[in-house]
Amino acid sequence: MYYSLTPELETGNLTLDWKHKGLMYNIEMLMQDITDSHKPERETVESSMSSLISYLTRLFGHEEFLQKSSNYPEKFSHQEAHEGFMQEMNALKKKFQQDGLTEENNNTLIQLVNSIVHHIKFEDRKFNEHIRVR
Ligand SMILES: [Fe+2]
Repeated sequence: MYYSLTPELETGNLTLDWKHKGLMYNIEMLMQDITDSHKPERETVESSMSSLISYLTRLFGHEEFLQKSSNYPEKFSHQEAHEGFMQEMNALKKKFQQDGLTEENNNTLIQLVNSIVHHIKFEDRKFNEHIRVR
């Protein structure tokens, strides 16, 4: 297991951490699919990507709802970051459908996933600080 909710990614908000744990699980499954030593299956990767996309849609929706209702000052830039991730993830899914499991696609996916993990570590923790001290 390479991707999991390590203590440095925890926000201290139980609901958010629980959802992030699920996200890391989805990410880990997808990463295992692309690095499957037996031979990665294109359909498996596409289906894991679809699961990740729907998970992200629900997670981001939940966060944005909390940000709106708590009047988080950085809600617009945070939402923009979410939208950027979704656009990139959807574009990448199309690329996987067109070109399959190329090294370039795999590397782009790893970079994107790492950006999302980075977002949890810094932006989501910052946002949680805001709701925690209110
Ligand atoms: Fe977020």
